[in-house]
Amino acid sequence: MPLRCLMLVTICVVLITTEAVSDENVKKAVGEEVSLRPARIDPLVSSIIWKHRNSSGFVVKAIEWDKDDDDGVNIPNQRFKGITTLDEKTGQITITNLTVKHGGLYTIDINNKEQEQRFNLKVMEKVLKPVIKLKKTEGNPDVVYLICEYSETIIWRNSSGEILIGSLHHPKGEFITVKFTGNPDNFYTCTLDNGASTETSDPVYERELFKDFWGFVIASVGMVFIILFLFIPPCHDYCADCCRRHKTSQMQSHMWNFSTHLPGHRL
Ligand SMILES: *[C@@H]1O[C@H](CO)[C@@H](O)[C@H](O)[C@H]1NC(C)=O
Repeated sequence: MPLRCLMLVTICVVLITTEAVSDENVKKAVGEEVSLRPARIDPLVSSIIWKHRNSSGFVVKAIEWDKDDDDGVNIPNQRFKGITTLDEKTGQITITNLTVKHGGLYTIDINNKEQEQRFNLKVMEKVLKPVIKLKKTEGNPDVVYLICEYSETIIWRNSSGEILIGSLHHPKGEFITVKFTGNPDNFYTCTLDNGASTETSDPVYERELFKDFWGFVIASVGMVFIILFLFIPPCHDYCADCCRRHKTSQMQSHMWNFSTHLPGHRL
């Protein structure tokens, strides 16, 4: 028990100290809003300044508040005007309608003292809605490839909501191999995730994927009938019995050939 207690304390100390020294990473999509808030704030807070440093190292004040200033909140920089608010009690800054230019490092001064907690904001373009590409396989009408050709993280799902493991597609993206199941309502989707936003493709239904498969089945069945018709000798009254036997054995052998040459097991 004392050992467990010690471990718990150690973990807490490690967590608290790492939080104090490390930057918090936040990812948002263009047009979204972000709220950043210091973990702790002095209850006797008299001034707050949020500063923004962009990737070129250029620092501006995003928003400032001073208890003794009659104006209250001041937003000196054009980039933050009209979209930035501050909660003086919690120190929380909220910026709406984000653009890529709002990305960068945010620091907070409370009572003119810079806090250790910093926020690294990344504002990314909204991810586009993906479109699944379809590729048929040579000689396998009951198998197709679905391709999601994008650089973002890709998540494949089927109609049961299960996540499917894709394979790498060249030059980018992933593909999955879809087998004919016989259920036309089965579908597949591809979701893109760039860390800030996600978008999911329209579903691709099995009924759209295997139109050729049914054509193939019908053609094959037709072929078998033609073969049966051509190869079974005409029957004569004098040999009704032998003819019947011959017909049965030929039919069996053709049926057997038919089933071994067809992919799948639907017939
Ligand atoms: C950083 O801000 C300065 C001043 O607004 C601007 O000239 C510069 O292009 C910015 N850099 C980036 C990478 O946005």
